[in-house]
Formats: sequence, C-alpha cells, structure tokens
Amino acid sequence: MCGIVGVVGKPAKELILNGLRNLEYRGYDSAGMYLNDLAGHEYLTKAVGRIKNLEEKLTPDEQGLVGIGHTRWATHGKPTVDNAHPHFDETKRFFLVHNGVLENYLDLKAKYLADTTFKSDTDTEVAVQLVAKFVYTEHLDTFTAFKKVLKLIRGSYAFLLVDNTEPDHIFLAKNKSPMMLGLGDGFNIVASDAISVLDQTRKFIDLNDGDVADVTKDSYHIENAAGEVVHPAAHIVDIDPSAASKGTYEFYMLKEIDEQPAVIRRLSSAYLDENGQPKFDQKLVAAISKADRLYIFGAGTSYHAGFVGKEYFEKLTGIPTEVDYSSEAGYHFPMLSKHPFFIFLTQSGETADSRVVLQEARKRNIPALTLTNVQGSTLSREANYTILLKAGPEIAVASTKAYTAQLAVQLELAKAIGCYLKQEVAIKFDLKKQLALAAEGMQRIIDGKAQLETLAKADLVHSRNAFYIGRGLDYAVALEGALKLKEVSYIQTEGFAAAELKHGTISLIEQGTPVIALINDPVTAGLTRGNIREVESRGAKVISIVGSEFAVDHDDIVLPATDYLVSPFLTVVPTQLLAYYASKNKGLDVDKPRNLAKSVTVE
Ligand code: AGP
Repeated sequence: MCGIVGVVGKPAKELILNGLRNLEYRGYDSAGMYLNDLAGHEYLTKAVGRIKNLEEKLTPDEQGLVGIGHTRWATHGKPTVDNAHPHFDETKRFFLVHNGVLENYLDLKAKYLADTTFKSDTDTEVAVQLVAKFVYTEHLDTFTAFKKVLKLIRGSYAFLLVDNTEPDHIFLAKNKSPMMLGLGDGFNIVASDAISVLDQTRKFIDLNDGDVADVTKDSYHIENAAGEVVHPAAHIVDIDPSAASKGTYEFYMLKEIDEQPAVIRRLSSAYLDENGQPKFDQKLVAAISKADRLYIFGAGTSYHAGFVGKEYFEKLTGIPTEVDYSSEAGYHFPMLSKHPFFIFLTQSGETADSRVVLQEARKRNIPALTLTNVQGSTLSREANYTILLKAGPEIAVASTKAYTAQLAVQLELAKAIGCYLKQEVAIKFDLKKQLALAAEGMQRIIDGKAQLETLAKADLVHSRNAFYIGRGLDYAVALEGALKLKEVSYIQTEGFAAAELKHGTISLIEQGTPVIALINDPVTAGLTRGNIREVESRGAKVISIVGSEFAVDHDDIVLPATDYLVSPFLTVVPTQLLAYYASKNKGLDVDKPRNLAKSVTVE
C-alpha cells in the first residue's frame, strides 16, 4: 500500500526521504515529494521505481520547511512519473498525496471536471482538481473547499494537501486508510504509521475515519465527520526504533524468522502468570465463553493462522469454530449461530477486507476481538476487544513472526476460555511448559538453518512449481508454507491436504516436481507416508519435514518432539526458511516481493 509522510516547521527533504524509506515495506512502484521553503520557492519531484531514483533527482538547493512525500502502490494507472504523487491542479497551486481508492472518481470527473485537463490516469488527481475548482468558482477558502470535496468522495483515503498560497499549512483527511499525526517541538508531522517517523517524535494523535485537519508547525485544528471540532488526547508510542531496523541481517525476513523463539517467550510471560494460568481481561473471556460458535476472519497468512486457531478453540473450549476469508465473508456473510463471537486476525490491523467484516459485525452488534501487531490500528480500535501480538515491528512483506505470534495468542486465549468453561482438557494442558518447549524447538531448527538453504538451492531454486502436503494441523501449515514460498520466490506453489492430491492434482506431478511433505500429526502420519510414496512413484522430489517420533532414516528435516497442538510452531519454521533461501538464492528482493504490499488497505 502507499506510504505518506508530511512535515511542517522543520527541514523537510531528508526527513521525508527517511520516512518514505521506513515505509518501503508497504510496497510501492514510484515515489514523489513536494517541498516549499516558505520563501517563495517550491519544488515538485517524482520518480518511478525505488526511492533512490527520487533521491537522485533531488538537487542540493531543493529544500523546504514544509513538505509532503509519497510512495505509490499503483491501483489506478501504471507506475509512471505522471501517475506518481503528489498530484496538482491545472494552476499548480494545490498539491495532494493520497493513500486509498476513490470509488466514484469517474462520476466526479464527469460531473464537475469535464472541462479540466488531466495530467494523470489516477483517481487522486480528481480530488486535487476538485479542490481547485471549488476554490476558484465558489470563492471558498482551501480548508472549506477540501471539506466540500471530502463530502462528495466515496472511498478510502489518507490525504495530505498543500496550497502554495498558504504553504505553512498542511491540510489532511483520513477515511479507512491509516494516518497518524505526530507532535513535535516547533514542528508537526503526519505519516502512514508511527514507526516511520519515530526518530522525529513519539507523541502521536490517532485520527479517526472522517477526521479532517489543518496543521501548522505549532498548531492543529481537527474536525470529526460531523464537523465538530475535536481535541483528541495525544499518546506516547513506546516502540523501540531499533526493533524496526535490520541490524546485521541482509533481509528483515530472516531477522524476523530468527526472532520467533523470543516472541513466543515474550507472549508466554505477557499472557500467562507464573503458574501458567492465562491473564486476559476476564470480561473478554466471559464474553467469548457465552458464544455458541466462534468465527475467525483473516486474509493470507492471518487466515492460515485461523485454521490452526480453529483446532485450538474447538479442542480446548468445545465451542464450534469456523474460519473464513475476510474478503468472502464481507459480502457473503456467514450464517450466524444464536450467540456468535467474531475474532479478527490481522498483523497490520489495517487490512481493508477484514475491516469490511468488522464494520458489518458492528452494525449487527456481534461482539468482536482483534488480534493485531499494531497498537492503535484501525481494526484494533474498532473491535470491542483487542489483544496485541507483541511480535515487534514486522517489516518484511512475508509474515513470519506475526503468524507464530497469532498461534500462541490463540492458544493462550483458548486455554483461558477452556478453563473458564471448566473444560478438563484445557485445565490439564500445561501451556507454559509447551510454549517453552516450542520456543526451544524453534530455536534448534533456526540454529540448523544451513540445512534448509542446502535443500532450497538443490530442490527449489530452479523449480517452476512445488507442492506442500500435510494432514490435520500439518495441512494448515502446508497452506502457509505454500504462500510463503510463492510470495517471496515466485515459484508456483500449492498447499494440499495430503490425500487430496490424488483426486486430480497429482496429474501435475512429473519428474523432479518438488513435494514438501509435513508429518507431525500422530493420527495420520502413516497415511501421509503413503501419499509420499504415491508422488515419489510419479517422479516427485520429496522433501520431508517430520516430527522426531514419526521420523525414518531418509527424512530431510527431523523436528524436536512436541505436543500435537504446538507442533505448528515447529513445522512452520523450516517452511519459512525454505521460502527465504529460495528467494535469496534466486537473487530476489526477499523483503519486498514484486506486486505485494505489507498492508493491503484496498479491497
Ligand atoms: C503474508 O505473508 C502476506 N504478506 C499477506 O498474506 C498478509 O498475511 C495478509 O495481507 C493479511 O495481512 P494482515 O495480517 O495485516 O491482515
């Protein structure tokens, strides 16, 4: 998704470039910035590709005390200089950056701007041309014209607008796309997320949907969707900026894979007391315990985490649980039980597909909990309850530590609910011990990562396609392993319930096709061995990732023994490492795969 950074009241160029670099993880294909030195000079610079291309275009004398910058993840119009932001009106007075999608931009263009000459194919340019139209034809001041445009727009936006006749103001507006207002000493700053500008300030104001503001270097005026002036309290963001740096790692993805044991230990101490009893908000536990059915929603990796969560909630609480793609449930709402409870899994807390479901839940008064890694994120603020994943900033587009954090928090929550409902299996489950063993086991696999690089280089790097197979929780991990491999290495990969392959897809197996088999399910281990033989007899190159109690001599990766419920914590780590090494050895940008964004804030 696009990234935005704006600042008023201090030298802007380097600050914006640095902020945009910190937002690169969101994914983009072009970048641009507008600068004004408040002494009559202004500069507009845009470039396709990486931020360094923008930096190379900026000359040393181009400076500003006000600036707005943008990294664009193309939705309307190809990645070209003209389509890059900031966009401007015909008179080059107004400059606008935008993260989001304007659904009715063509209607607005036809109705109000038929005689306007456009420079770009974007939806965003319609907004800035409309501001100019209302200023010039209705003699409105810029803030009033901006608010008038916002009333006409349908869609998602995080806007920053500068009028070069009053350049010491930044006008901003937010709806469904993330935006934070940072308060500095003699300056104010706006960005898509707090992490990107933590080096400037830790004091932030959360903006709500429908908010519009007029910000100067030492003031801010905020109005809500109803047009009322509001004075939201500022809060301190206490993330350690170094946690969002690569340190000595070549890529964030490997750093974040390596951080997983520490995250699991952190979650154990955060949500379990010294006796291993969960310590969640009792109102939340009581509310979920009233449910006769749980509904888990997510996208991508978070959806896969929900597959594992289903097993946890059903086994430990006895409450039937279903898992749905957010994007499907948003428009084909699930049939509800009498007492439903919704659980949203979302690392970013900004996924538009998931937000649609949460909006519908709120309309129907369905209680909802969000598990997220980002404090103050939209889905966190809009749910009745929220639990933080505490995984630390996850920068790589490919989600790894947030996935295992989602497993851990779901397991801890399931134990809490099970104990509240006096379920014997939950009471007896020594979760503190199991999480400690899981962290230890994950560490041992991480310490032996060289083996995974060898396998990736030998069996995956030159492959066109690959398959993951598994049963039970191994099937849930097979789905996640397949997504990891394809999204960072571009190797077409499918995750399959092991027995399903022979119902059609086995026709794709040919000499040398990589099939990665996961065996950590005691009930079906033998059956999956049979499925391995089926594909091997048709030429497949099998990589077997097996729990030690099921291992045989020729298995490739043998995992430390663990309780079945926590086996996904171990089984997933080799799949993450195989994906990482396949991508790295193909010379790809592991952290920023093509076409992808870290936070998908469009539907
Ligand atoms: C996972 O590696 C992907 N980056 C993607 O599938 C991601 O999990 C999905 O977009 C959901 O994001 P969220 O957890 O922030 O909602």
